[in-house]
Amino acid sequence: MGISAHTAEARELHPLPEPIVPGQPWTVLAPMQDVTTLGFMRLLKDYGVPDLFVTEFFRVHETSTPEKHILASIVANDTGRPVFAQLIGEDIPHMVRTVGQLLRHPVAGIDLNLGCPAPKVYRKNVGGGLLRDISHVDALLGALRAATPGILSVKMRIGFEDTASFLDFLSLINKHRVDWLTVHGRTVKGLYRSAVDYDAIALAVRNVTCPVVANGDITSPAKAAWVLQKTGCAGLMIGRNAIRNPWIFRQVREFLGGKAVFQPTLLDVRGYIDSLAEAVCLPDMTPLRKAARLKKFLNFVGMSVDPEGAFLKAMRLAQNLDELLRVSDEFLVNDGQAEKMFSMEPYPGVVARPNCEQGCEL
Ligand SMILES: Cc1cc2nc3c(=O)[nH]c(=O)nc-3n(C[C@H](O)[C@H](O)[C@H](O)COP(=O)(O)O)c2cc1C
Repeated sequence: MGISAHTAEARELHPLPEPIVPGQPWTVLAPMQDVTTLGFMRLLKDYGVPDLFVTEFFRVHETSTPEKHILASIVANDTGRPVFAQLIGEDIPHMVRTVGQLLRHPVAGIDLNLGCPAPKVYRKNVGGGLLRDISHVDALLGALRAATPGILSVKMRIGFEDTASFLDFLSLINKHRVDWLTVHGRTVKGLYRSAVDYDAIALAVRNVTCPVVANGDITSPAKAAWVLQKTGCAGLMIGRNAIRNPWIFRQVREFLGGKAVFQPTLLDVRGYIDSLAEAVCLPDMTPLRKAARLKKFLNFVGMSVDPEGAFLKAMRLAQNLDELLRVSDEFLVNDGQAEKMFSMEPYPGVVARPNCEQGCEL
């Protein structure tokens, strides 16, 4: 496993937080803009908290200051689990300045985004765009390492257009003594839908000295076990499938621990929708805005409600929150639906709207 390769020196200097179940791989909620808010983190505490959280990215440029709403997920974090602060940017002095600002807060560490694929972002040479500029990443990581006395992590894709430079980037992870690395097994050009290259994640495990967390399409506890086995990774990061199924971190722990895995019914999922409405719709939002906000999450939930995607189609037509909750009753509770099981895997061919997957806007 990647963890055993982590150098003794780094482990002593910057011990990573223990997972909830000692000896199990780390589970991490993927950073997701407008999703991994304090409200959603708190909600997960009731369903199955991950071992680690990572904030959505703080944007760093000449005039930036850490965004207050993202800081809230650090300062008011009462989930009992550590949160890492993620940065996106390329301006070295301002990245270093921001690290200093963030380290005044109770962060578990600093995470660098080397993956965001939104053209608006990568064209500014930040996020995934940096995977085209290895010498700049070398300098940036050197500066971040020097500025971060504690844990420094990186979340990267496996390349920009292709994987030709992947090994070179991995050597920078070792050179700058990064403490843990998340690999999202897609190129930047692969966006969110191309097949995840788990062999590339396994390559990272073999070539870096720190623990590697695998990311991309970990849909269920069974898939989590398969990814662990296939890649030898030390941890699992789950994003969209944690929106779809908030029990997933608990289920992964149960599955890997050889225990009975909790199987939610559609009634349980209807309860989750109420919790979501409370967690993500703010009181000052208009009914239309509340509906739009909740739909962003239901786009993923709907992938496991019915094999035809009928719930997804109906919920997209709802005009306000009350209507949305009525549609949820219709498909998840009424006429004997309540006792049906929520599918552990997304139904094949039922997809969230693409614009719900483009989290990175800059
Ligand atoms: C709505 C949304 C917003 C995202 N925002 C971020 C972000 O702020 N930082 C980041 O590193 N990745 C971001 N991502 C990418 C995810 O962290 C993750 O790498 C990707 O969704 C693949 O994992 P999954 O298949 O488990 O969802 C975002 C993804 C989505 C869907």
